[in-house]
Amino acid sequence: MAGTRGRFITFEGGEGTGKSTQSKRLATALGARGLDVVLTREPGGSPAAEAIRGLLLSGRARPLGVLGEAYLFAAARIDHVAELIEPSLGRGAFVISDRFADSTRVYQGAAGGLSVDVVDGLIDAAIGATVPDLTIVVDVPVEVGLARVGHRAAGTDRFESDAVAVHEARRRGFLALADRFPERCVVVDGSRDKDVVSADILALVVRRFGLDGERVRGD
Ligand code: TYD
Repeated sequence: MAGTRGRFITFEGGEGTGKSTQSKRLATALGARGLDVVLTREPGGSPAAEAIRGLLLSGRARPLGVLGEAYLFAAARIDHVAELIEPSLGRGAFVISDRFADSTRVYQGAAGGLSVDVVDGLIDAAIGATVPDLTIVVDVPVEVGLARVGHRAAGTDRFESDAVAVHEARRRGFLALADRFPERCVVVDGSRDKDVVSADILALVVRRFGLDGERVRGD
């Protein structure tokens, strides 16, 4: 793929949807096909963005309000795009990000109260042309997602501890994204067995990017 721009795939969804597991599995599967794969996450993915992540997830930025938090997510994203995503796409890699700008559209926008105009303006300024080629929205009913998160050892972070109604609004927000950006968004039912979900996602990525011919070297 020398000289060819890579592909940018994002995973989106609420708490406990399994998107982190699924993004890791996709990275492993594409790597096994001999592709150059970069797995990353938001907020974070570069040193400055990880520092901002600490501020956001600890709740220390909460006094800034939803608009202030949205600016911090955007600031982290500026560095993530410049330091990791663009250089990786430039060398032809598949970049897989566990969350990206659509999380701001949902958490701070649809479910957080910021207007579409404000959120879109912030996102455009932060990412420019670095729009995902494919966004996989992993969807599970809120009670399933929350039950999964409840089983995690380390307790809840700033965003996991919100009320169930807020989680419902986020789920609707993620599903609405797929209506708004149908050309790049695919909704995947994450309530199924995780092996079934990962096979489904790999098949859709192979199809979408025409990877059928690119079997593992020596296959
Ligand atoms: P993380 O531990 O990565 O959660 P998850 O496993 O659910 O991805 O924490 C990220 C949290 O930050 C998550 O609750 C969603 C929230 N978030 C936003 O509110 N806005 C954003 O733009 C992003 C990227 C994340």
